[in-house]
Amino acid sequence: MTQMTSSDVPSMGRRQFMNLLTFGTATGVALGALYPVANYFMPLRAGGGGGGTTAKDELGNPVTASGWLSNHPAGDRSLVQGLKGDPTYLLVEGPEAIGSFGINAICTHLGCVVPWNSGANKFICPCHGSQYDANGKVVRGPAPLSLALAHIEINDDSVFVNQWSETDFRTGEAPWWT
Ligand code: FES
Repeated sequence: MTQMTSSDVPSMGRRQFMNLLTFGTATGVALGALYPVANYFMPLRAGGGGGGTTAKDELGNPVTASGWLSNHPAGDRSLVQGLKGDPTYLLVEGPEAIGSFGINAICTHLGCVVPWNSGANKFICPCHGSQYDANGKVVRGPAPLSLALAHIEINDDSVFVNQWSETDFRTGEAPWWT
């Protein structure tokens, strides 16, 4: 007759816990995989606006130009959710002006989000040290390419992000991201 020893009890508990964890992880992965699909079916355009994707803040609320300018000074580069939810920098040019282009923050090396370093006046990737100038042009590898650009348009105080398909003004070349 087999007898359960007291040492089996915690190991069963551990196994169940691991099962739960695996299930939880798998569910998390599945939900994560579904997110872009769900996103795809969500309307990207704000009703009646100037077109494009509405820029959203970190909480998912639409960004307004007046609200943004009230707490982001000239020279500021801070992130919104842009095209396909990509982290995108808005550039504040002055007390009343958001720049007409935004910079996609995804590093062209291996995809880390690149923070703005105002002291160095550059975007510096924490992962492998790539650097980009204030306009997102790559100035130091290993990143092979500059950060992607997007058009920024203001319409009725709403901020829209649009695909940039023209020549990259920083390099004079066709955009690599389209
Ligand atoms: Fe940015 Fe490697 S991911 S330098």
